Parts: sequence; C-alpha cells; structure tokens
Amino acid sequence: MYTWRVNDSLTIRKPFDAHVHLRRASTLRAVLPYTAARFGRGIVMPNTEPPIDSVETAAAYRDEILAALPAGMSFEPLMTFYLTKNLTPAEIEKGADGSICKIHAVKSYPYGATPNSQWGYRSILEAEEVLAAMERAHMPLLLHGEVHLNDAGEEEDPYDGERVFFAEVLPRLLEKHPRLKISLEHVSTAEAADFIEKQGKEGRLVATVTPHHLMYDRTQAFSGGYRALLHCKPLIKTRADRERLRALVAKGLPFICAGTDTAPHPESKKFSSCCAFGVFNAPAAVEMYAQVFDEIGALDKLENFLSVNGPRFFGLEPDTATITLEKKDWQITEPVVTEEGVNIWPIGHVQHGLGNEVFRWKIV
Ligand code: NCD
Ligand code: ZN
Repeated sequence: MYTWRVNDSLTIRKPFDAHVHLRRASTLRAVLPYTAARFGRGIVMPNTEPPIDSVETAAAYRDEILAALPAGMSFEPLMTFYLTKNLTPAEIEKGADGSICKIHAVKSYPYGATPNSQWGYRSILEAEEVLAAMERAHMPLLLHGEVHLNDAGEEEDPYDGERVFFAEVLPRLLEKHPRLKISLEHVSTAEAADFIEKQGKEGRLVATVTPHHLMYDRTQAFSGGYRALLHCKPLIKTRADRERLRALVAKGLPFICAGTDTAPHPESKKFSSCCAFGVFNAPAAVEMYAQVFDEIGALDKLENFLSVNGPRFFGLEPDTATITLEKKDWQITEPVVTEEGVNIWPIGHVQHGLGNEVFRWKIV
C-alpha cells in the first residue's frame, strides 16, 4: 500500500535487515556504511570473537557500531546474544529489561557449522532453561536450522543439513516450546519453504530469506570453477530450491522477511584453499532483492518483505524514512577496502563473481 512505481522507480520505507554480520574494528568500519546506506536498522549477529553473550559485551559492541558510523549516516543496531553454553536465564532477563543493553533476540548456531560456531550447543534441544526464559521474556530465537553433525558425531551431507533439521529437530522444538518466538534464518531449500508456508505464523514463527539464495543456484556456485564469493552456509542449493524460495516470497506472506546474512571475510580467508563461509552482499543486497522481485512479477510485495514484516516480528514499527530504487544497470567494480588495505570482495564483483555480472536495480 505504501509502494508506488513510476517509470521504473520505486520508493519504499527504509529496509530492515533481520540478519547482518557487521564484525568488529576495521572490518566493521569498512562494511557498515554499505549496510547503513540501505537499511535503517539491523538485527546484528553475535558471532564475533569472543561471542556476545552478556549485556555488557552487547553494549560495548553496540557502542562500537555507533562509533563506526560515518558522519551524516544513521543506523540502529539491534543487538542479540549468541546461544553459548555460558548464556544464563538471568542474562536473558537482563537483556529483555534493556537497562544496560536491550537484547532483541538470541541466535543459535549449530555446533561445527560456520566460523565461530564452536561455542554453541550440539542440539538446540539441550538449551532447555534458556529457551524457557526466552519464552517468558517473549525474546525470539533465531535459528540457523541445519544439522551438521548427527547424533553419532558424524558429518551430515552439507546439502542435506537443512532438510534433516526441518524434518527431525524443528518439530520437536516447536512441540517443546509452543510459545517461543522463532525465526528460521536464511531458508535455502524447498522443504524449508514448504514448512514455513504451512506452519508460519505472524509474531510466532517466521523465516528470513537472503538475496543470494533467491538469486543464485548451485550450478552457478560451481560454474567455470569454484565461486568463492558464493560460498556460504547454508550452501546455495539447486535451481528447483531457488524457484521454490522465489515462489515463497512472491506470496507476500507476513511471516517472511529479508535477512541478508551479509558476512564479510578478508580476501585471505575467501581466496584460500579452505574458503571461509559467508557472502558479502551489503553493497548490493536491497538491489538484488528488487531485481528478483521484479523478475518474478512481485514488486508490489517488496516493501512488506524488506521493510515491514521484519520490524513487526521484533515488536517494532516500520521505518519512517524511505529509499528510492531505479531500474538501471550497474556493476560492482571494486572491492571494499579496510583502513589496513585488506580487500573484502562483494558478491557479483565483475571479476571475482560469475564474471561481468550486472545488477538491474540501483538505489538513487
Ligand atoms: C556466517 C559468518 O561468516 O559469520 N557465514 C555464513 O556463511 N553465513 C556465519 C553464519 O551466519 O552462519
Ligand atoms: Zn549469518
């Protein structure tokens, strides 16, 4: 209702990133302006080193983010806890009360899944007392829904981890904690899309979708060799999975929202024999979403997906500021460079992406 389109121009309320990795120190200072140019607020992921699992460390991180904002830019970081084994029910209460630092959610990483996930529980079902405290405080759980190690401690097939989670773990969690608010992060498979479409409920069970899982499929992630900039968790899946995710967002459901999972890594970690998981999409995230929604004829659903459904889940009002996008081709020709001269390569870079990639929508 608030979206209008005149001559391929689109003005929407400022987007809300329900899943952003901002890192710390010089990386934070380098990447934050790209997120702040596109998003008014973001749910800030806590998988720093060490992880954020107390109100004091969250407050220090929030202050560091605010200090890293260039003059004239605004961005509100919404802080989260990492579900480590040290996180206590008392800390949840302090975070909910917000007197030291308001905590908006708790993120669960499956053990062994991604960078810095070694502090997590092997199974979310073990975190009983903390989950009960969150239920009482109405604090959402953000779930990286993949099984990486099975009960015997063996590696799961990385293309099957999400399916196994949705089939075997999630139903048990929902049954045990019927009042817990849950966001299923970066859904990447047809099975996850089927699940959320059936079971999703505004304010109770929602899902985020990344721009890269909507735009790419795994044939591209391996086209002409190994594509480091598309290497992330969850892995980018098949064309059929991508089509199912597109069909999901095209429905305009109130419990599906944008979460970019932008996850910057230095060149040395991306272009190494053991490439770090994480797609750095902040320089094009909103533009990619607009492109996909345009391709599927769903631009009228874009604003709710980007700017309304996310804040509503966290009990917040949509932004009052706006951004304008235009249908205009552009390319990413440069890396983002930290003050120490470290390159961070964005998705779609003309050389290091798939090659000469063009984005079709631009923020003006
Ligand atoms: C994330 C990162 O690098 O922090 N990487 C990723 O591939 N998504 C971690 C995460 O969100 O799981
Ligand atoms: Zn993430």
